[in-house]
Amino acid sequence: MNQVTLKTLRDLKAQDQRFSCLTCYDASFAAAMARAGVEVILIGDSLGMVLQGHNSTLPVTVADMAYHTASVARGNQQSLLMADMPFMSYGNLDSALENAATLMRAGAHLVKLEGGAWLADTVAQLARVGIPSCVHMGLTPQSVNVLGGYRVQAKQQDAANQLVADAIALEQAGAAVLLLECVPRTVTERVQKSVNIPLIGIGAGANCDGQVLVMHDMLGLHAGKPARFVKNFLSAGDGTIEGAFRQFVNDVKAGDYPAHEHGFD
Ligand code: KIV
Repeated sequence: MNQVTLKTLRDLKAQDQRFSCLTCYDASFAAAMARAGVEVILIGDSLGMVLQGHNSTLPVTVADMAYHTASVARGNQQSLLMADMPFMSYGNLDSALENAATLMRAGAHLVKLEGGAWLADTVAQLARVGIPSCVHMGLTPQSVNVLGGYRVQAKQQDAANQLVADAIALEQAGAAVLLLECVPRTVTERVQKSVNIPLIGIGAGANCDGQVLVMHDMLGLHAGKPARFVKNFLSAGDGTIEGAFRQFVNDVKAGDYPAHEHGFD
């Protein structure tokens, strides 16, 4: 596989071909994901939960993200590296530019921020200085205290309308990618019809250009009952970790994952 770029994702979208994305936090797993053909590697702030053992992503710092981004970059071959901007690292424009630059210097190819249309100025300024961004919408884990828990978002008509309007505003501001987490399939379909940039989903149904899962979840390593959208690819594959990544890539590309049961009405 050639180096994956944002143009690759746009081309895949234009050809109606799906792409895969997994979270990753170190060099060895990054190398295995690249060998398995994972197009996008997300250095997610979920590392606060799956690596550090916190019960939310809020304690994660820019230094943590830079450390893991640099580790992944050293193991990466050709995947596109997207790094999360952690909680409060983009609360104002100056800090957003400074912290995004730190992650890009560590090896990220684009950064991900959580929010809605209020991020339009930040997204535009980042694009102007050469930093592409993905905006994570719907269930935004950094706002868990505002949302009152990890639950499906935009179920009501007015919230769904707001999410679609925000997606349009963010595309106009220059967002390179959108990511939708835990929203009803119908909302994903509306966003898909309203924007032209690649759309990545997690618990957002099949009508996305790419699908992402937290690596630990798709390997069956989670405390308690997994979320509805999680599938165990270690048991679905050949029993190896690299085989699980390959199975995920194949299932996403074939349209076999996510199945109807992994989505929300
Ligand atoms: O941090 C993360 O792992 C994420 C995924 C849930 C998309 O943002």
